[in-house]
Amino acid sequence: MKLLVIGSGGREHALAWKLSLSPRIHKVFVAPGNAGTAQERGLENISITSIPELIEFAKKEQIAITIVGPETPLADGIVDAFQAANLIIFGPTQKAAQLETSKVFAKEFMQRHHIPTAAYATFTDPVLAHQYIDQTSLPLVVKADGLAAGKGVVVAQTNEQAHSAVNAILVKKNFGSAGSEIIIEEFLQGVEVSFIVMTDGQHILPLATSQDHKRLYDGESGPNTGGMGAYSPTPFISPSLHAKILRDIIYPVITGMRQEGINYSGFLYAGLMITEENQAKVLEFNCRLGDPETQPIMLRLKSDLFTLIEHAVNGTLNKVDVEWDRRAALGVVMAAQGYPENPRKNDVIHGLSQLINEQAHTDNFHIFHSGTVAGGEDGKGILTAGGRVLCITALGDSIKIAQQNAYKLIENIHFNDYQIRRDIGYQGINYQKKINNCSAD
Ligand code: AMP
Ligand code: GLY
Repeated sequence: MKLLVIGSGGREHALAWKLSLSPRIHKVFVAPGNAGTAQERGLENISITSIPELIEFAKKEQIAITIVGPETPLADGIVDAFQAANLIIFGPTQKAAQLETSKVFAKEFMQRHHIPTAAYATFTDPVLAHQYIDQTSLPLVVKADGLAAGKGVVVAQTNEQAHSAVNAILVKKNFGSAGSEIIIEEFLQGVEVSFIVMTDGQHILPLATSQDHKRLYDGESGPNTGGMGAYSPTPFISPSLHAKILRDIIYPVITGMRQEGINYSGFLYAGLMITEENQAKVLEFNCRLGDPETQPIMLRLKSDLFTLIEHAVNGTLNKVDVEWDRRAALGVVMAAQGYPENPRKNDVIHGLSQLINEQAHTDNFHIFHSGTVAGGEDGKGILTAGGRVLCITALGDSIKIAQQNAYKLIENIHFNDYQIRRDIGYQGINYQKKINNCSAD
């Protein structure tokens, strides 16, 4: 059977790689993919991105299932279009994807279904928003309603920051129509984690838990990014909290959507704040897998991903079990100089071929590509082509050992002025130390 994965990031590299390991799959096309997916056995990049052309391709190649990575094609209705063409695709419809594409929709939905989240108010009128800020205590969080490439959220520590966020979104229209409405919400203190599930619209299969590192610099400082590294599982989600998150958040989302006439099928990602009282509150929903969370999660997945997705599209997710590597996995993102504002491109990446050879003989690590293209003097090299370039992902008997393994691999890779965080996994490692009352390694 042949599959099609839509997207070009590290998440899609990890998904496509894992799908290609299924004995039932002989080819996974990636549209458009990157230099990493181009090199991987069993994968083939296709340079198509328009939905009508993707539909033509899926028909011609008799693609068994198409799997969508990023939110933009979901927001554009790729699932609706494929389904209308009688093609099987895994992901939420445009309507279901509103959980991510409209923060106002998501907040109102959570309110209707009593799903724990930060208190909030919505505004279209900047005058009312400014008044509200003056009457509310700080810090507070200002969010554009629509998709804003991770830049539409401002955590305001001062009144000035809050007012200028309102002006940027509602008055200057920095995000166009994605900013015609805003949310101003209560600031939640705590530890942020990622809780990702697969669902067929009725049944839920939780994937392994994880934690991302969203800020550019160590210790959660610097600008917000797409994510600079992630590990799985996270000790911040104990078995009892896990059960509570499923009961109070994930199931109410899926049944609530169904009650409102929307079948939510696909991956669902809840970004959660675990508060000091050990309560989980929703920061955001994404209607897709996380990037870079997917990279460590896929490295730990022992079950056949294709079989899981097949059950999801057939509505039988209750009939499968999922098996995870007991070890921890940790991925460190190597980003280009200038990321996230203005990443530099076309730098030669050194040191990959040796690691790719080693990778063929071990399941202990994997180099996932994001912004890379083939190029260089002889056309056989690999060049940087975007903000996040690689995610070096390794397993280890603890988060600490996985961390050491990932950073050791990075010593072999080089491109000009790359940026990495040196502390990926630190919160998990410290927390594990605390709960074990001894060293995590
Ligand atoms: P979002 O896209 O809504 O997840 O927001 C981006 C980032 O802003 C999150 O990953 C959090 O780090 C931070 N954030 C969003 N909402 C809140 C909140 N209510 N309290 C604290 N931090 C928040
Ligand atoms: N890593 C955060 C996200 O995928 O949205």
